[in-house]
Amino acid sequence: MKKILITGGAGFIGSHVVRRFVNKYPEYQVFNLDALTYAGNLENIKDIEDKSNYTFVKGDIVDDNFVNELFKQYDFDGVLHLAAESHVDRSIEDPLAFVKTNVIGTMNLLNAAKNQWKENFEKKRFYHISTDEVYGSLGTKGLFTEDTPYNPNSPYSASKASSDHFVRAYGETYGLPYVLTNCSNNYGSYHFPEKLIPLFINNIINNKQLPVYGDGNYTRDWLFVEDHAIAIDLVFHEGKNHETYNIGGFNEWKNIDLVRLLCEIMDQKLGREKGTSQNLITYVKDRPGHDLRYAIDASKINVDLGWKPSVTFEEGLEKTINWYLNNEEWLKNVTSGAYKDYYQKQYS
Ligand code: NAD
Ligand code: TYD
Repeated sequence: MKKILITGGAGFIGSHVVRRFVNKYPEYQVFNLDALTYAGNLENIKDIEDKSNYTFVKGDIVDDNFVNELFKQYDFDGVLHLAAESHVDRSIEDPLAFVKTNVIGTMNLLNAAKNQWKENFEKKRFYHISTDEVYGSLGTKGLFTEDTPYNPNSPYSASKASSDHFVRAYGETYGLPYVLTNCSNNYGSYHFPEKLIPLFINNIINNKQLPVYGDGNYTRDWLFVEDHAIAIDLVFHEGKNHETYNIGGFNEWKNIDLVRLLCEIMDQKLGREKGTSQNLITYVKDRPGHDLRYAIDASKINVDLGWKPSVTFEEGLEKTINWYLNNEEWLKNVTSGAYKDYYQKQYS
């Protein structure tokens, strides 16, 4: 039986990865390590919590003693590392929190894996999940490839870039068998409503303003989260050691066009008159250091491993909106308490 450690499995993407691994690989013992920060929520994985091949461990990857002991106790065969501070706006307010979790936390996991595996790396694998934001911003043309130089602009992307470098360095220096992926913006169910799509869905439901940063002409490449989980599964099992793969949706949208589409679909779903939600759009002060455009060339993972997105953006968005409309309780729970203070501070 393989013992797999997944970090950050109570978060947005992690919950989809944990669910997939627990359901698809009953022969694996899946350990979900999560500190349950504001972004971590056991409700996200409620459907698998009683499965016999699943164990939840509450803990902080910044605590090196704890991480080392955990590796000693369970002797994991593989690690899928997703735990992170993940929101750019929060990184502007509190950069050090990002260094702690994203850099030190990753270092602690790398050290624990290296020490536990003691250079006997056969059949071991450390998979670091990262973002396309490490490449910085594109102009109006071009795509990020695996060879694009790192050029991070936000404290979030700088901390992720730093962690990527350490993963690669542990591969070169100690021979740690790693794989690394850099993915574009995800959307889907269980997405915390601080990021654009779930925030705006929640605001439309509640008739609240839709705060578009700057002129709204910023571009992101959107990928349905379940397609990311499929790609992660594939890279974990079939990716080549010491390789990086870019993952993206081949799906670029200017923020303002995406917001208008969202408004249109939501008006239909909520039985509101056409144009109602668009009236909520409010242009607000821009994010400092705002990257103009991200877009991924995902041809390497397509050619080498045969992955491509399985749903269109229209299908994915429809599923996502339906999920939020059918899970009002989840939305209510995550937007009570501390969320209100965050919202007030960020958007007042
Ligand atoms: P998220 O913020 O929804 O979840 C992060 C999870 O990590 C939470 O469950 C949180 O409790 C946990 N966590 C945070 N600090 C921790 C700590 N110190 N110790 C243990 N657990 C801790 O993030 P997400 O959007 O699911 O992103 C997951 C990973 O994927 C991150 O590494 C992120 O950089 C990367 N990524 C995200 C996107 C995206 O669009 N969301 C795109 C590409 C890559
Ligand atoms: P976000 O979901 O925070 O992801 P990222 O910054 O990692 O790409 O933001 C997506 C885009 O939406 C980004 O260009 C910033 C913009 N945005 C807004 O215009 N208003 C908002 O309230 C938020 C959260 C984001």
